[in-house]
Amino acid sequence: MPTPSPNLTWHPSADASAALRHACLGQRGVTAWLTGLSGSGKSTISVEVERRLLEAGVAAARLDGDNLRHGLNTDCGFDAAGRAEAVRRAGEAAALLSGAGLVTLVGMISPYRADRDRVRARHAACGVAFLEVFVDAPLAVAESRDPKGLYARARAGEIRGFTGIDDPYEVPAAPEVRLPTGERGAEDCAQLLVDAIVSAARRE
Ligand code: ADX
Repeated sequence: MPTPSPNLTWHPSADASAALRHACLGQRGVTAWLTGLSGSGKSTISVEVERRLLEAGVAAARLDGDNLRHGLNTDCGFDAAGRAEAVRRAGEAAALLSGAGLVTLVGMISPYRADRDRVRARHAACGVAFLEVFVDAPLAVAESRDPKGLYARARAGEIRGFTGIDDPYEVPAAPEVRLPTGERGAEDCAQLLVDAIVSAARRE
């Protein structure tokens, strides 16, 4: 992780700004970071959670790993360094959005614990609430769904370093939320996450 130049100065907002922002928006920001295998349901659940939050009058935004790789993360590869950088950028973007008062839903495989822990630490440093959400489908289930046909291509040796096949996935040690998407439907899991987010937004 690069360190900032010593010739920079941090400019904080006025003391009252956090309380005023809360009063303006009627909500506080939270980042929900959905991690899990490809095909575990991260995108399906984030889309549904975003919809439910917006319908309930909660301003929410979604940062999807595949989508970010069309823009912000377009130059990041899938080796460990590329994934670390993709996760770092998404984490910074999420901390900014949530710091500005949105509920931010990030869905990325983010297979390495250390990368996710760094995002958590950055949120803590910025005073922004962070929920690590383990989208927990066993590999056999994710592979049987194979919505993009990528597991089949990885098994055929056409894609190298595919998470769960020939690249690691480090299971979260202490996630705030676990969504058992192998056993329960997406609707149920979405509601579990909506409830956790609403309660975290209230707690802050
Ligand atoms: S992460 O590991 O860096 O967090 P990210 O969530 O951004 O991954 O992107 C994962 C998506 O990239 C998958 O949903 C899949 O569509 C695609 N993909 C392409 N190559 C790989 C690979 N080697 N491993 C995992 N996903 C891959």
